[in-house]
Amino acid sequence: MISLNIEKTFGFISKENVAAYEAKVKEAQDALENGTCKGNDFLGWLHLPSSITKEHLEDLKATAQILRENCEVVIVAGIGGSYLGARAVIEALSNSFIWLQEKKNAPTILFAGHNIGEDYLYELTEYLKDKKFGVINISKSGTTTETALAFRLLKKQCEDQRGKEMAKKVIVAVTDAKKGAARTTADKEGYKSFIIPDNVGGRFSVLTPVGLLPIAVAGFDIDKLVAGAVEMEKACGADVPFEQNPAALYAATRNELYKNGKKIEILVNFNPKLHYVNEWWKQLYGESEGKEGKGIFPAAVDFSTDLHSMGQWIQEGERTIYETVISVEQPTHKLEVPSDAENLDGLNFLAGKRVDEVNKMAELGTQLAHVDGGVPNMRISVPTLNEKCIGGLLYFFEKACGISGYLLGVNTFNQPGVEAYKKNMFALLNKPGYEEESKAIRARL
Ligand code: PA5
Repeated sequence: MISLNIEKTFGFISKENVAAYEAKVKEAQDALENGTCKGNDFLGWLHLPSSITKEHLEDLKATAQILRENCEVVIVAGIGGSYLGARAVIEALSNSFIWLQEKKNAPTILFAGHNIGEDYLYELTEYLKDKKFGVINISKSGTTTETALAFRLLKKQCEDQRGKEMAKKVIVAVTDAKKGAARTTADKEGYKSFIIPDNVGGRFSVLTPVGLLPIAVAGFDIDKLVAGAVEMEKACGADVPFEQNPAALYAATRNELYKNGKKIEILVNFNPKLHYVNEWWKQLYGESEGKEGKGIFPAAVDFSTDLHSMGQWIQEGERTIYETVISVEQPTHKLEVPSDAENLDGLNFLAGKRVDEVNKMAELGTQLAHVDGGVPNMRISVPTLNEKCIGGLLYFFEKACGISGYLLGVNTFNQPGVEAYKKNMFALLNKPGYEEESKAIRARL
């Protein structure tokens, strides 16, 4: 099970001040449990893991199997909360060179609908020209422009290449039960579809079909992923004492750091497979807390790679940051540094050591250097990168986010700020219904 160590924040903040959050955290836990917090119509994620039924998982696995049997490539179309969770889990669990392997036991998973890059979409459609491909179209609102645009291209190409009947089999929709264009299309075309519950917001939806379906198609065990989340649901529950509850401690510590001028949290990994877990986390915390002129800015780095770029800033830049390190205890594979008779590179002092030992010393050395440089440090230990641990990690972050947003005093579950760019974009594109806005915005250009 994952664990949290906050010892290296003491010296910057006090143990007593963190402990003093106990009552407020209890209030937060009660408000989440009783549905009395702000945004209480979006609390479906709270006990989602333990409410997922065996039948639901079987349905997802059966659909995944159809895609696996009929597709060499599956495109997951979605953006934000309808994209990052699946990508985070798939990349954390996949072989790093899966793209290059000729013999795979699962379709290649690619992503679209998370940008409006013409070259990206052109190159994707070119790549798919001789491929048997399928699409999972994910959008809760069913109207998100980026996703709808990509899906329009992919649907046409899939039908042209594979025929209407096969397209119907290999296109799956994950969307609202009733609303939105994605629902209308799915119903009209007769696609298999899954529902995103009304009370689960995008960034909390990785354990709904939004994440579970693509993860199952990629060949990973969603039973274990959910089991890991269920375990953390218990470990972070409202009845677990404050000092033993990792979500409570993480939420309290980061709020205390924020109060003491640490405005930026940098999520650090020492394993490149976790790059998209960082991205998922950035959305979860950024969209949940960055509002009303407040909120910790969530940043992320991949170490040791970024020690050679951002390392300087972290060591000696403005002292407004703290780090949270995700430390994976055991790698999946074993690789030792070979001995070399000539030792031209001078690395024989590492001969016989596992590469991970070198990585762990980089991690430890960095932690101490950054603490010495004035950067408080928390560590989240993850036993290994498997479905169970990742499921636990995701739920841990969700629960801590629910508590943390409450401590900050914001509505954790809305995102009014993301509408501003859409309004301008639609006005600039002359979308019907935006005539007044079009006139006004053109006058400003
Ligand atoms: O967390 C959120 O609510 C957002 O990031 C959404 O997931 C994102 O905007 C995509 O929305 P939709 O699923 O409606 O296409």
